[in-house]
Amino acid sequence: MSVHSEIKKVTTHTLQEMKNTGRKITMLTGYDFSMARIIDTAGIDVILVGDSASNVMAGHETTLPITLDQMIYHASSVVRAVNRALVVVDMPFGSYQGNSKEALSSAIRIMKESGGHSVKMEGGIEIIESIKRILTAGIPVMGHLGLTPQSIYKFGTYVVRAKEEEEANRLIEDAKALEAAGCFAIVLEKIPAHLAKLVAETVQIPIIGIGAGNGVDGQVLVVHDMLGINNEFSPRFLRKYNNLYEQMMKAFQEYISDVQSGDFPNEKEQY
Ligand code: KIV
Repeated sequence: MSVHSEIKKVTTHTLQEMKNTGRKITMLTGYDFSMARIIDTAGIDVILVGDSASNVMAGHETTLPITLDQMIYHASSVVRAVNRALVVVDMPFGSYQGNSKEALSSAIRIMKESGGHSVKMEGGIEIIESIKRILTAGIPVMGHLGLTPQSIYKFGTYVVRAKEEEEANRLIEDAKALEAAGCFAIVLEKIPAHLAKLVAETVQIPIIGIGAGNGVDGQVLVVHDMLGINNEFSPRFLRKYNNLYEQMMKAFQEYISDVQSGDFPNEKEQY
């Protein structure tokens, strides 16, 4: 029996069971093989191949420029690393909005070419037709409400969403619509904690929060942020579990100094 066959893989059903039995769901982003291998081995439930790759991997200011081909490249690298986690792949901006046929063919490309297990889409009632069409092909869909970075030019800012009653009510209706359409889970980004808790209590499917407080069914963070690789990003919701910026800087500077001084490689480090 191979080692892999003993591992119980996380599925969309596992996540629903976790919500039903009150076990919190853990999710982190991942974009490449090496990082995804560590995250999966650590025991994470879900790896999100987020379109935040556009920011943290490619250096763009927003998530808008990343392409379907680039998402497929990142997702296939992650899938090759993963033995246990459920892999969710973000559908990039422009690959699903406004045209449900195109949405379906984008989702099919992601599933076929990357081997990912599901897709994530930003938006509520306005994208329901695309979500339903993708679901008819048997592709699981995770929703994403609240701060939806693909609409940054509509919002104009990354501040907390749905603080006012009207937007909060709309978000609750959107969450109900996503559940009714058949989404297996929803990410809620940067909304008041009491609203996120209310949504998690209103719908039966798992709610995974980022900057949405502790009353939800699970949490997600961008892996580069929680590792402290980017020392310029410190929003209130982020807990940094390391300061890799400083540790990596130290390692790089020591290497430069060792090469320059002739200390590296020494006699034991050569043939
Ligand atoms: O792209 C991403 O990293 C995301 C998370 C912030 C949820 O969508």
